[in-house]
Amino acid sequence: MARILITSALPYINGVKHLGNLAGSMLPADVYARFQRAMGHDVLYICATDEHGTPAELAAAAADMDVRAYCDEQHEIQKRAGDGFALSYDYFGRTSNEPNIVLTQHFAHVLEEKGLIEERLEHQVFSIDDDRFLPDRYVEGTCPHCDFERARGDQCDNCGRLLEPTDLKEPYSKISGSKNLEVRETKHLHLLQTKVEPQIRAWVDAATEWPSLAKSIAYKWLDEGLRDRSITRDLKWGVPVTRDGQPREGFENKVFYVWFDAPIGYIGATVEWAEANGGAGSRDWESWWRTDKGAGDVTYVQFMGKDNVAFHTVSFPATILGSEEPWKTVDKLKAFNWLTWYGGKFSTSEQRGVFMDQALDLLPGDYWRWYLTANAPEGADSAFTWEHFQSLINSDLANVLGNFVNRITRYTASKFDGRVPAAGEPGEAEAWIADELGQRLPAIVAHMEAMEFRKAAAEVRAVWAAGNEYLTRAEPWVKYKSDVDAAAVGVRTGLNLVALFGILAQPFIPEAAGRILDAMGVPQDRRSWQFGDIAGLLDALPHGHAITPPPVLFAKIEDDQVAEWTQRFGGAEPDA
Ligand code: 2FM
Ligand code: ZN
Repeated sequence: MARILITSALPYINGVKHLGNLAGSMLPADVYARFQRAMGHDVLYICATDEHGTPAELAAAAADMDVRAYCDEQHEIQKRAGDGFALSYDYFGRTSNEPNIVLTQHFAHVLEEKGLIEERLEHQVFSIDDDRFLPDRYVEGTCPHCDFERARGDQCDNCGRLLEPTDLKEPYSKISGSKNLEVRETKHLHLLQTKVEPQIRAWVDAATEWPSLAKSIAYKWLDEGLRDRSITRDLKWGVPVTRDGQPREGFENKVFYVWFDAPIGYIGATVEWAEANGGAGSRDWESWWRTDKGAGDVTYVQFMGKDNVAFHTVSFPATILGSEEPWKTVDKLKAFNWLTWYGGKFSTSEQRGVFMDQALDLLPGDYWRWYLTANAPEGADSAFTWEHFQSLINSDLANVLGNFVNRITRYTASKFDGRVPAAGEPGEAEAWIADELGQRLPAIVAHMEAMEFRKAAAEVRAVWAAGNEYLTRAEPWVKYKSDVDAAAVGVRTGLNLVALFGILAQPFIPEAAGRILDAMGVPQDRRSWQFGDIAGLLDALPHGHAITPPPVLFAKIEDDQVAEWTQRFGGAEPDA
């Protein structure tokens, strides 16, 4: 039994995430975690809310709430949304909790001991009316290159040029609109990434199991040359900056930068998990994270959108490798492109796109899970459209899977007393489906191992379709009229296919899979992905065993629903 540590990028605290965020981190991590559990491995799937930084402070202020109370509330909301999609975290922690604070301060301390941290003086824009330093992207003004009037202090969205806030003409605070700004001196801690660069490059070179998107982004950053970066900010909400356990002199009003403490949050949330579980034996967090404490045999897999890759392949490794402590580092890093909304961006402010809580108000989590996995933005961006969503759900779930289950279980109830029939010998049709499964099941497992979820979903769908083809060939309803035993073998095989389809569906659509397997009376310990030989698989249910046809598994999405949702959530961008 292998030990597999899985993390998905930590969702930021300021509001429920949209379907694009779900599709590129939490959902595929969950599909993978469920798959590895079904393979019999010891899986630990950790996630948390990423809570610190300016956006959290501003969102709390906009909600007229204290930032901690705001985060408490939003954490619960995100947790509930995760439950609605059946995200099977072993623990959903918080970067603002104590373990992450202790660990973040620990890393800063060790990095300083290793000579990798320096205090440096910076010049930053201070907004007198907001009474705060402004992060670069919160200073806006006129672009010196193209005269675009809403250029951000880090980049102009019109001409694409990278900027410094002091380059802007007529700068103003994005927070209040105030032009009452000045440049002030401020001291910050800098992590000397330039010194760790050779170790990071050697580590990236040695990473043989990263899919190509992750690797190419890592090299792009390394080839451009790393820069030392400031890891503190002039803010109130974050991990306090300490030295030898005391507030650090001159840093009393500063905290660590959110991107410094966020990835440490993977470890922090594991500590929270261990504490919640008593910390004994394999529940010991160090056995997952410290190679000197048993984590040497752990495989660590990370999931994230492509915008997060540099932070995980360069910045976080600078912290971990720079510490020279025996921390576990990532073995496989699966990165995703964007899920787009009709080819454009999801937009909260312009009400384009669907957010996780809204999605669950429309349909159960499984519908979305299937669509977002079968249409995962893996090789390239992929576009969400209501029409595509409707056609995929109606064909794959309602027709191919739902009808198959419905047809054979109802027929069993009406003609075979709701029991798995014992009579009849397998013939040509059974040989055909056995052959199909013999080819397709190993392919599914291989795609899942490779984290190629689109391909895995396509192959699962092909197996479901083969089940329908099998029934067309076996024709138990026709045979029943002349030879009940010949019909019985078709029914028995069909029922075993239903059970198999439920088992295969578990990582993708866990709730429907559970309903199928319950209806077929498959015990928990017979739901694994250790398939054994195909003949056994097609005759696994005990003869005479009672089954119950499940209620309709998936309702078809109607055209008027699509019309209503398009109206409510927007369709294509007007100028797209
Ligand atoms: O991009 C984001 O939404 C970040 N909150 C991801 C953090 S991942 C990890 F490093 F915490
Ligand atoms: Zn410009």
